[in-house]
Amino acid sequence: MASSTASLLLSALLLPAVKGEAFSHVQPLNTTILGQYGYVDPVYPSPNATGVGGWSDALAKAQAFVNELTLAEKSQMVTGVPGPCVGNILAIDRLGFPGLCLQDGPLAIRVASYASVFSAGVSAAASWDRDLMYERGYAMGEEFRGKGAHIYLGPVAGPLGRSGYAGRNWEGFAADPYLTGVAMEQTITGVQDTGVQSCAKHFVAYEQETQRNPTYPYVDLNDNNISVTAVTQEAVSSNVDDRTLHEIYAWPFANAVHAGVSSLMCSYNRINGSYACQNSKTLNGLLKTELGFQGYVMSDWGGTHSGMASIESGLDMNMPGDLGSYGDAWGSGSFFGGNVTTAVNNGTLDVSRLDDMILRIMTPYYLHGQDSGYPGVDPSGGLLNTFSPVDVWRNTFNMTGEYNVDVRGNHSQLIRQHGAAGTVLLKNTNNALPLKAPKLIAVFGNDASFPDAGMYTNGATFYGNQYVGGGSGTGRATFVSTPLNAIIERSSQDNAYVQFFLNNTYVIDSEMPDLWIPAQPDVCLVFVKTYAEEGADRTTLDLDWDASDMVDSVAKYCNNTVVVSHSSGINMLPFADNDNVTAILAAHYPGEESGHAIVDVLYGDVNPSGHLPYTIAYNSTDYNAPPTTAVQTNGTEDWQAWFDEELEIDYRYFDANNISVRYEFGFGLSYTTFELANIASEALGANFTSAPPAEAILPGGNPALWESLYNVTVSVSNTGALSGAAVPQLYITFPDSAPAGTPPKQLRGFDKITLSPNETQTVSFELMRRDISYWDIISQEWLIPSGDIGISVGFSSRDLRVSTTIAPVSE
Ligand SMILES: *[C@@H]1O[C@H](CO)[C@@H](O)[C@H](O)[C@H]1NC(C)=O
Ligand SMILES: *[C@@H]1O[C@H](CO)[C@@H](O)[C@H](O)[C@H]1NC(C)=O
Ligand SMILES: *[C@@H]1O[C@H](CO)[C@@H](O)[C@H](O)[C@H]1NC(C)=O
Ligand SMILES: *[C@@H]1O[C@H](CO)[C@@H](O)[C@H](O)[C@H]1NC(C)=O
Ligand SMILES: *[C@@H]1O[C@H](CO)[C@@H](O)[C@H](O)[C@H]1NC(C)=O
Ligand SMILES: *[C@@H]1O[C@H](CO)[C@@H](O)[C@H](O)[C@H]1NC(C)=O
Ligand SMILES: *[C@@H]1O[C@H](CO)[C@@H](O)[C@H](O)[C@H]1NC(C)=O
Ligand SMILES: *[C@@H]1O[C@H](CO)[C@@H](O)[C@H](O)[C@H]1NC(C)=O
Ligand SMILES: *[C@@H]1O[C@H](CO)[C@@H](O)[C@H](O)[C@H]1NC(C)=O
Ligand SMILES: *[C@@H]1O[C@H](CO)[C@@H](O)[C@H](O)[C@H]1NC(C)=O
Ligand SMILES: *[C@@H]1O[C@H](CO)[C@@H](O)[C@H](O)[C@H]1NC(C)=O
Ligand SMILES: *[C@@H]1O[C@H](CO)[C@@H](O)[C@H](O)[C@H]1NC(C)=O
Repeated sequence: MASSTASLLLSALLLPAVKGEAFSHVQPLNTTILGQYGYVDPVYPSPNATGVGGWSDALAKAQAFVNELTLAEKSQMVTGVPGPCVGNILAIDRLGFPGLCLQDGPLAIRVASYASVFSAGVSAAASWDRDLMYERGYAMGEEFRGKGAHIYLGPVAGPLGRSGYAGRNWEGFAADPYLTGVAMEQTITGVQDTGVQSCAKHFVAYEQETQRNPTYPYVDLNDNNISVTAVTQEAVSSNVDDRTLHEIYAWPFANAVHAGVSSLMCSYNRINGSYACQNSKTLNGLLKTELGFQGYVMSDWGGTHSGMASIESGLDMNMPGDLGSYGDAWGSGSFFGGNVTTAVNNGTLDVSRLDDMILRIMTPYYLHGQDSGYPGVDPSGGLLNTFSPVDVWRNTFNMTGEYNVDVRGNHSQLIRQHGAAGTVLLKNTNNALPLKAPKLIAVFGNDASFPDAGMYTNGATFYGNQYVGGGSGTGRATFVSTPLNAIIERSSQDNAYVQFFLNNTYVIDSEMPDLWIPAQPDVCLVFVKTYAEEGADRTTLDLDWDASDMVDSVAKYCNNTVVVSHSSGINMLPFADNDNVTAILAAHYPGEESGHAIVDVLYGDVNPSGHLPYTIAYNSTDYNAPPTTAVQTNGTEDWQAWFDEELEIDYRYFDANNISVRYEFGFGLSYTTFELANIASEALGANFTSAPPAEAILPGGNPALWESLYNVTVSVSNTGALSGAAVPQLYITFPDSAPAGTPPKQLRGFDKITLSPNETQTVSFELMRRDISYWDIISQEWLIPSGDIGISVGFSSRDLRVSTTIAPVSE
């Protein structure tokens, strides 16, 4: 190291010391204040865990464990080291503690053999199916547990989807806090019911990849001697006002805490000028005080930029810790580790804070029974771990687990169902779908076939089905069902003739008659894709590889062109206006059963029931809130992302500005039709106050916020000829008494219900206090606005069929 430990700690200590008031402005943002680096409300000290919410027995066990630790062991407990897993905490054999194994997350145990690749978060969200979300979480939990991983790094609520360009949106769920919040709760509950800890990430306002980390003078990963004291430019700062933070970006994390999540991962970006992993306002304030979080905060890998400052701001575990060249800030060593020991010894760090960090880490370990009968770490994963090569840790980890444990079970069946359930039917004319035993089938596009670069998705490749995205959120499949194989297999039942043309450029360049198709095909199936990955934002919302041009080329000759996209999310679909394009399916990232899942939908074995978890506009220029992609200046503080659209992301923006869109949030067709009738609402109490009654904080915040105040019921009927699943969605409209900037409609309920033809059932939506409140920046409370709150239920955000009002608080 070029610089001394002391100077590093000292400079780190100075970082959050700039005092100021929090952003509590709605509009306009005061750019004078925002322009000042470090302008964020200081909240100290870091709150102790208290064991509320049913964690007290586990906390007592954790306390007994902490009582046995030496100071050196305490420092070791909060600092990652090289090991077989993506993140590792060393064992303490003396106390029978086997260490902790942390693994990516969030759709598969990535660094593992014989494991499944599940559907991505965006697919789970598109299903709008609470049971599926739980089932997916539970099945993933079984695989993590089977491999001896204690912690599942997921699910993701940041990015939320402020912009469709963000590279990691697909790892998370929906461009809506309510739907994402439900998906967080269901996933976390499923995972943790298997005894695996869940880590909700990335906290918070992490909405772009560009400049997510600081720029260093130079980075040489093979040089252990690089200096990390100076950065050329700091990471992007997400400048977000207090109301937006509460109502949009922190909302789903409140669900995560409410569901009992074990840990949270702080993100790479800065929030209002201060790094997310040393932001006392969001960690000590919002998370550990307001939301009553009892678990631990771990850093994203390399997201720690200080020692003491981070510890005092609420960071409990530093990851990956001391990984040599791959350690903190791409330098050697760790801001934690030995520095923590030194800081306690000389009185800089009170040992009670260090104890609290370990109590928070060990309480979930005992709560989920990981201290008894937990499988050992499968050593084979360690051999795949490029993050810390086996030679580095061979002598520090005991490899007692079984090699190459096959944890897949019958999960491929579930994944097939989940892939189909996350597929959204956007267009279906001329009765194109379901297919009716076509005899002559032409398949087009580079998305149809086997990934030519292998089973591990890392970078965009020309040929290959995009069943998953790239980066740390990808998976290592042992088998991929491709659309082409599945079509050949399924159509053989009809003795069909299948021809395929996988090179998009060739298809565009060719006249269809030259492709040697004997006649106009009964159906032309065009498979198109969009790759997205961690570390890079998308540069366009168009489909990759000139896919839209290819669709036009095919449709020129084929009047039954069916388009299927495998994509991270939002795509422009200019060909949707073409009459020869008879059907469009957005199949998202369905996981390893991609081919079977889409064939189930195409042939009608599964009636599509997915709905968009984002909005597809007519033109990419119609979207607001793009990522900050460049700065014109060289100042260290110059990367700023102004969230001045405030609450108006995705449909909230299009609705507030009356902009026509191609397919709105919540949209999705079925092979049958549904009706809604008989909306009614019942108050589940009387004389509601605008502010919640003051109650002791539990995980998730004031428990009064989670109490159901209204029960809204509607009847849903299947008016078509096929059995199918409807997704009734409830949107609220606040009265004018709510503050300016309130979006016209906000999702606050949904259900998924399977109905036979002519069947009618009643569905109910319980509205909790938080659902009908806004965040008041003055009183720092959730308030129910006075007057009539509009309640509408429909099948998308712009297809509202029935409505009523409630008036919880009179004017
Ligand atoms: C304590 O040790 C840390 C790390 O070496 C150093 O930065 C700090 O200045 C020391 N504080 C005191 C009061 O000696
Ligand atoms: C913005 O903040 C600065 C510094 O606190 C203050 O002087 C100025 O009046 C504020 N401007 C507005 C428009 O509130
Ligand atoms: C945490 O608990 C310790 C006692 O274990 C106490 O000394 C310390 O002041 C507490 N910290 C806070 C922030 O309450
Ligand atoms: C203290 O932190 C610095 C910065 O990461 C690191 O280089 C150094 O090795 C650490 N010291 C110890 C004893 O861990
Ligand atoms: C490995 O396990 C054995 C037996 O439990 C123990 O004696 C030894 O210290 C352990 N080694 C390491 C590096 O943990
Ligand atoms: C695709 O077809 C074009 C046009 O025929 C050709 O130039 C190109 O090399 C082909 N690409 C691949 C990957 O085969
Ligand atoms: C639609 O397909 C038919 C062939 O079936 C073709 O004659 C016609 O030009 C196509 N229309 C468009 C708009 O491409
Ligand atoms: C599509 O083209 C075929 C073959 O030319 C023709 O038989 C059929 O009627 C056309 N379908 C439509 C909907 O135009
Ligand atoms: C999208 O909008 C831009 C700017 O208004 C315009 O130049 C462009 O032609 C539009 N693209 C399409 C496909 O309509
Ligand atoms: C930023 O730095 C680069 C490289 O030193 C220099 O070429 C450029 O002129 C600088 N730009 C500004 C706006 O200062
Ligand atoms: C609610 O308020 C009304 C009018 O103030 C009162 O008559 C009624 O008794 C109250 N109900 C309850 C359950 O407190
Ligand atoms: C809401 O209404 C449904 C349908 O009447 C009923 O089954 C359910 O129990 C009600 N929920 C509450 C909390 O009253």
